[in-house]
Amino acid sequence: MALSQLDPLVRPLAQRLHADHMARLGIDTTMALAETYNRMKYGRIDAARRALYRDQWTSLIAENGVPRRPAIEMKDGWALDLSQSLPHLDRVLDDSEKIIAERAGVRKSSGGAYRSYFQDVWTPADLEKYPSFLDFATSSEVLSTVARSIGSVPVLSTALPSGIRFVESNAEFDDQPGQPHDSQLYHIDYYSLPNVYVLVLLRDTTREHGPWTFLPRGVSQRVREGLDYWTRRRGYRVSDEEVYSIAKRTDAIEFSHPRGSVLFIDSSGCFHFGSRDSIQPRFQLMLGYHGVCRTDFAELVVPQKSYPIRPADSRLRQMVLSRESLPKSV
Ligand SMILES: [Fe+2]
Repeated sequence: MALSQLDPLVRPLAQRLHADHMARLGIDTTMALAETYNRMKYGRIDAARRALYRDQWTSLIAENGVPRRPAIEMKDGWALDLSQSLPHLDRVLDDSEKIIAERAGVRKSSGGAYRSYFQDVWTPADLEKYPSFLDFATSSEVLSTVARSIGSVPVLSTALPSGIRFVESNAEFDDQPGQPHDSQLYHIDYYSLPNVYVLVLLRDTTREHGPWTFLPRGVSQRVREGLDYWTRRRGYRVSDEEVYSIAKRTDAIEFSHPRGSVLFIDSSGCFHFGSRDSIQPRFQLMLGYHGVCRTDFAELVVPQKSYPIRPADSRLRQMVLSRESLPKSV
């Protein structure tokens, strides 16, 4: 019997454990349980894809598109690329202007929504209408950096958070303005270890836009241990005062840069927050990647996304867009 046949039986328990940011058993215990279940389901695929990364990465990358520059290397959980030279970035920025012109400034949800100040205006139809986004997300240059951090052929998330989000942060939409809440407070993501975001600024971003703000991994881990974070004793979000009782305020790095700047970040290693007081609307692309075995139950709890795969796509692109995809030679 395939283990996925157990999903309907496991789902009610998974929903309870996942609720309220894993509050019932605590984040670290829930992550361990989720990873065990996901590893039982996908351990074979994980081993195969780790071996592919170790042994065949060069040929996979060459087939996907020979990189035009050395791989950007993440250090201490992050890397910033201000070169504006990543492939397909120009197309992404051009298409983003069309989406912003069409959808910006219109609140999708009514009052009381979770994260009212932050809305994803991406639609599934955009995958076909604007292929630049998937071309960028699966380019050899971007994947080389992400894969090195993950140690495997990456998966573009199909659950939480979505692999592609086109987000507008806007203080005008905020139900509790001036009072940081939800993701406006420091936290570390629990989706997978690691979880890598590739964030692209779609407009020039300053402090007035509520920039994505983070602590490097070394400092973050010190804070995590000092606060007993991820244990049952502490909630998912923590206050600035708690964080800065251990870290220095000057440790925090704001992703405030010109349009087209790119941040690679391990959001499951680095404390972060964003969209605080976005007095000026902030537009940001958020791509989310992880390895084969997640450390949460999101895939049991939320409807799965899917991405278009064409027969002519490279083996690497197919694997990034579908976790189950493995080359026939494996
Ligand atoms: Fe987060």
